[in-house]
Amino acid sequence: MKDRILVKLKEAYPDCISGAQLAESLGISRVAVWKHIESLKESGYEIVAKKGRGYCLEHPEQAIIPVLISENLADPHWGTPIFYTGQTQSTNLWARQLLEDQHLPEGTLIIASQQTGGRGRLGRTWASPRGGLYFTLILRPALNLKNASLLSLVMAVACARSLRQHTGCACRIKWPNDIFIQGRKVGGILLEARGEMDRLDYVIAGIGINVNLSSQDFPEEVRHLAVSLAMVAGHSFDLNQLLVSLLEDLRQDYYLFLQKGFQPFREVYQEYCIHWQQPIAVNTGKELIQGIHRDLDVNGSLLVETADGEITSISTGDVQLISYQEE
Ligand code: BTN
Repeated sequence: MKDRILVKLKEAYPDCISGAQLAESLGISRVAVWKHIESLKESGYEIVAKKGRGYCLEHPEQAIIPVLISENLADPHWGTPIFYTGQTQSTNLWARQLLEDQHLPEGTLIIASQQTGGRGRLGRTWASPRGGLYFTLILRPALNLKNASLLSLVMAVACARSLRQHTGCACRIKWPNDIFIQGRKVGGILLEARGEMDRLDYVIAGIGINVNLSSQDFPEEVRHLAVSLAMVAGHSFDLNQLLVSLLEDLRQDYYLFLQKGFQPFREVYQEYCIHWQQPIAVNTGKELIQGIHRDLDVNGSLLVETADGEITSISTGDVQLISYQEE
């Protein structure tokens, strides 16, 4: 019922809709409407009651409404069931907690409007104020751990390509799976796998995209490194629509990867990668390796040519761009 109220409010926007109208169209009492509205407000939806006019949903493009996701999915097995909450610590963490108690099928979507302890790669945090997309997909690929690194590159291609197509923003990739625009980070992917080395049990694929954030929404220390789609495009995006298109592209690329491996993605990865054949420094956590990024190996590791002409393979680390120029 709450989703139906939200849909009505969103359809009415920018107008208000009275409690009586809502009650009549949904076949419930006005008291029931009021109770639902109060509970929606508690979950973080910005609903205001305007004197003599009724209820109005402020910033409707920011309101994640699960039914508007589920009913627009091309394949009902990907993106459902949906676990949604207004706020959680981290959707990856929530996914793990859910998986402790129940079986979640491949394609399960776990999503929040904001995270209080969003987690990034290499133990970093992920700023997750309202206005972004923060979601986790449960995957059950028949892969070994090595191929899971390639999966993380495939997801980066899927996100960058999808966001480019649906927002017009020139998204690119920084190895392994950072989504960049104009030299700043707009999205990231955190894959957490469980299982044996040669057979994964499941993969928790967490994706964060800075969609409708303004510069002030980012913590000061990352403000110069981060950007949002809205900042680049000059207008905001409907979170439900953007998520549906992203899910569809992730689904297609994920199943293509399971069928055909990384080969269909090699060229696109190269095209989207911002440091291909460029000088980089990679902090592996143990050392800083400088050189020219030459290629990827079969496992998706970076192949870097160092000053002595040797090729070093790097499987994990943080790439720093030495001379970045957006073409
Ligand atoms: C990175 O680039 O460091 C990865 C960032 C991943 C952020 C997403 S947001 C949804 C999911 N939940 C988390 O706590 N992290 C991922």
